[in-house]
Amino acid sequence: MNSKIWGGRFSQSRDALMDAINASIDFDKRLYAQDIRASIAHAEMLGAQGIISKDDTTAITGGLDAILREIEDERFAFSPALEDIHMNIEARLGELVGAPAGRLHTARSRNDQVATGFRLYVRDEIDGLDGALGALQHALAAKAAAHAGTIMPGFTHLQNAQPVTFGHYCLAYVEMLARDRGRFGDARQRLNECPLGSAALAGTSFPIDRDRTAKALGFDRPAANSLDAVADRDFVLETLAAASICAVHLSRLAEEIVIWSSAQFDFIALSDAFTTGSSIMPQKRNPDAAELVRAKAARIAGALTTLLVVLKGLPLAYSKDMQEDKEPTFDALDTLALCLAAMTAMVEDMEPNEEVMRQSAAAGFSTATDLADWLVRTLDMPFREAHHVTGRIVQLAEQKNVPLEDLDLAAMQSVHAEITGDVFSVLGVEKSVASRTSAGGTAPDLVRAEAKRWLKQLEQDRPRG
Ligand code: ARG
Repeated sequence: MNSKIWGGRFSQSRDALMDAINASIDFDKRLYAQDIRASIAHAEMLGAQGIISKDDTTAITGGLDAILREIEDERFAFSPALEDIHMNIEARLGELVGAPAGRLHTARSRNDQVATGFRLYVRDEIDGLDGALGALQHALAAKAAAHAGTIMPGFTHLQNAQPVTFGHYCLAYVEMLARDRGRFGDARQRLNECPLGSAALAGTSFPIDRDRTAKALGFDRPAANSLDAVADRDFVLETLAAASICAVHLSRLAEEIVIWSSAQFDFIALSDAFTTGSSIMPQKRNPDAAELVRAKAARIAGALTTLLVVLKGLPLAYSKDMQEDKEPTFDALDTLALCLAAMTAMVEDMEPNEEVMRQSAAAGFSTATDLADWLVRTLDMPFREAHHVTGRIVQLAEQKNVPLEDLDLAAMQSVHAEITGDVFSVLGVEKSVASRTSAGGTAPDLVRAEAKRWLKQLEQDRPRG
């Protein structure tokens, strides 16, 4: 069947396969609210400029409001023969208000229409994600405040390195998520120019007022170049890049949760709400939600790759290839929102096993650096030499199978005669973390203050939207 909307010069009917490959309505119906918002702004501008009559404007905007309600109440019949959301709405407008509907598309094209609607959609999504990121930061900062002094091992190479606090760990992710919010915010700022009025690619001969439509839709200004405005989707690429980086952060935290909740580590307990059992091994509690957050980063990064490759080499201006921008974007942003919600709930839910963490932090001579630092500070030893002396002391402790703080002074002095009893003031995990007072360090007092600062800031900024 030929489209009533653009079928003027077509005489043969369209192959069903053409509808199958061409129609986007099954997925782009999600743009209905943004499409209607932009159409109302456009119709009002056409009326204000005297390009269409006031009566036509009123008929069109009234009809669009009615369609919005029909879609929201699930009373709207979407038709693949009408290709996409834009033509479905316009065709329905014709049924509802008759002739004036035909004037809505004056001085516009589906090219600027879809670019505008999609920008509005992505902007709304960014605002939602910003709120979700804030909620996860808040959950982490609250854990940090509760566990500013809870000692756990810090790792490099996943080997015990130096003791840190669980609160410090949580705040590391708060910082990462803050940068994620910054990246989404940057993308939003550059996105916020209005393509409407660029028409098909060259602008229009009608005396439109692009400042008015831009303002009505909450954009900072009209986009300056009509070709660019209809042809680029870099605003989606930036958003998906921010989403991919954020998903990688979530994936790393998810991996920590998987490791920490294993029987070998036993650092945290996840409640039944975020674990599943095994059909054959009754003892199992699997951290499925964390595993899925870990995996879903792949899918989000995949969406970014898809759109990069779709756009690569496309000549200006619009090509139908660009219709392929939507499904990966919808999927990636939905997925990220789900991951953020699941992660927030998991973080709120998880409880550290403080004693296990503390003991693990003490294992593996994790305060060796503190001993070396003491030698440097107290005996004015060059760090490289102190490293060597400490290595020998660690060897002794290992032979005697005791932690450093339980090695007797005589044993230490057998390695270096000038060591005094004062050395014990830096050994032991509590002393170690308490001494890490350099800015950004893991000392519980600093962590407590940082957690408080974050909680205050997060409670102050209301999410955008
Ligand atoms: N559904 C199309 C898309 O998403 C709308 C734009 C169609 N424009 C065109 N010239 N065929 O890209």
